[in-house]
Amino acid sequence: MTASAEITPHVNAEQYKLLYAQSVKDPDAFWGEQGKRLDWIRPYTRVSDVSFAPGNVSIRWFDDGVLNVSANCIDRHLDTRGDQTAIIWEPDDPKDPALHITYKDLHRSVCKMASVLKELGVTRGDRVVLYLPMIPEAAYAMLACARIGAIHSIVFAGFSPDALAARINGCDAKVVITADEAPRGGRVTALKTNTDQALLHCDDDVKCLVVKRTGGQTTWTPRDYDYNKLAKTAADTCAPEPMDAEDPLFILYTSGSTGQPKGVVHTSGGYLAYAAMTHEIVFDYHDGDVFWCTADVGWVTGHSYIVYGPLANGATTIMFEGVPTYPDTGRFWDVCEKHGVNQFYTAPTAIRALMAAGDDPVKSYDLSSLRTLGTVGEPINPEAWNWYNTVVGGGRCPIVDTWWQTETGGHLMTPLPGATELKPGSAQQPFFGITPVVLEPTTGDVIDGNDVEGVLCIATSWPGQMRTVWGDHERFEKTYFSDYEGYYFTGDGCKRDADGDYWITGRVDDVINVSGHRMGTAEVESALVAHGRVAEAAVVGYPHAIKGQGIYCYVTLMNGEEPSEELRQELRRWVRTEIGPIASPDLIQWAPGLPKTRSGKIMRRILRKIAEDDFGALGDISTLADPSVVEDLIDNRMNRE
Ligand code: WT7
Repeated sequence: MTASAEITPHVNAEQYKLLYAQSVKDPDAFWGEQGKRLDWIRPYTRVSDVSFAPGNVSIRWFDDGVLNVSANCIDRHLDTRGDQTAIIWEPDDPKDPALHITYKDLHRSVCKMASVLKELGVTRGDRVVLYLPMIPEAAYAMLACARIGAIHSIVFAGFSPDALAARINGCDAKVVITADEAPRGGRVTALKTNTDQALLHCDDDVKCLVVKRTGGQTTWTPRDYDYNKLAKTAADTCAPEPMDAEDPLFILYTSGSTGQPKGVVHTSGGYLAYAAMTHEIVFDYHDGDVFWCTADVGWVTGHSYIVYGPLANGATTIMFEGVPTYPDTGRFWDVCEKHGVNQFYTAPTAIRALMAAGDDPVKSYDLSSLRTLGTVGEPINPEAWNWYNTVVGGGRCPIVDTWWQTETGGHLMTPLPGATELKPGSAQQPFFGITPVVLEPTTGDVIDGNDVEGVLCIATSWPGQMRTVWGDHERFEKTYFSDYEGYYFTGDGCKRDADGDYWITGRVDDVINVSGHRMGTAEVESALVAHGRVAEAAVVGYPHAIKGQGIYCYVTLMNGEEPSEELRQELRRWVRTEIGPIASPDLIQWAPGLPKTRSGKIMRRILRKIAEDDFGALGDISTLADPSVVEDLIDNRMNRE
């Protein structure tokens, strides 16, 4: 492996300035060049065709080009690096052997999976839901869908059967791919049992393809197909389907401020070019490097920076089945040493949890292979940043604090290694072609100059941008393009400091960020009120030392119901089964009444303040129908520890 001192970063400070200026001055020239990172079956002649105009939002990139995403991630590397490891699979239990899957192996396995999907009747444009552990078959399934032109929609294995059913039905999936069980942190989740339960709420003709992970499969139903059996006889070649650049590659459901999660749609050409470019430039990835993103493929981070970006670049990418704390808090560093990781990308919540375990677990491993460290998902507090920098990175690895979203496909703002003077906690500068603007939240006026704060919008498109909400283009326009006309609204607030660096201040809508996962408070509320003993619920975030934000619930019980510790536990379990463990309430406060305006609107601002223990600054409560409820809520607020 090349020593860090010998690497020249792809971009230095001057080049960044120059290239950035070019990229926003003539985006078509810039992206027209970048699109050439990919192999096209038919090259594009048009680069962008975009309108952010209300009522007519349309985003198209490279739109007369034809390509296949799986061929770009696999086939085109076969001649030059067929025997190089594409994926290192690191199992949950470190005593089990890691797998080194070469590009040739990957080609064969993806073709087999594609052939099996075809046998099940999956064709171009069909939707396939993946509900899988972090096993190589998850990557095979993604790439197999891409190969035959099917659209995958991954549901994180921590989601409940109900959440899974909603997503299967939401995109009318033809097939669900699952595994018998998912080992994680020494425990197993019964994925197949969950899938069976979900499928009770789905069309009879949805098929279920079951991959063997632990051998814990118990029941087979008429709709089930045994992947391992079918793969034995399936063809190990499968021609990649020529796809239009704007054909959907995947749907990924994500929480919003209202109602049901939205199916974010990403397409083929622009998404892949953007994932590949950001993976290379932001992490300063070089040929031969071993890249590790610790996310799950159930989130966009796993899509772009475990599978699509790294494989498009011919990298060796690590897929980790486990958790940072199993069998002990040294696991991440053990894996870094074992596989000689060069770029390491994780979430602030994991860093904080590991920081709490002290320096020793880090110091017992050789981390000299590390060159770039990354974080994503939420703002990182300077204390965690400093620990990451000095203890993990030994003070020699730039940290890229990457700000982006499921909707953006890849990084939008981030420092670049070797080009940016780092500031702990700041996402700093826009990536090439990205045009952030700070707006005054109520008037929507653009705030120019530095040392300012407002809501964050993006003025122009980039190739990785989402194209629509699956089946509901109107919702797409309403959510992202109607509050601030002519701009893409991110839902985040931000500051631009005196030097022009950006600091994300968090969501300005009713979305909270729990351990780097996005959670709509409305979803938790509807789960709570679905319980027979709950009359009303309001959910807000509050500062949590490890998770970033915790889930704080105010619950009004039905007349005649008595609050009890038992009921509290029951509601917690209830939300876990309705949505999944990630939505598990941290604190539940019994609220005889909620603060409402005379028109009946819950004043969340007040609930947020009480949850944050900041009730000295409640602001004007004179518009409340019954101001006395506030006193009760303050008196009975929950202890945050
Ligand atoms: C929201 C998007 C993008 C992959 C992970 C989350 C917050 C994300 C940062 C960061 C501050 C961040 C924002 C954003 N966020 N990265 N580096 N600094 N905040 O994807 O679930 O779509 O959530 O996560 O609030 O809007 P997501």
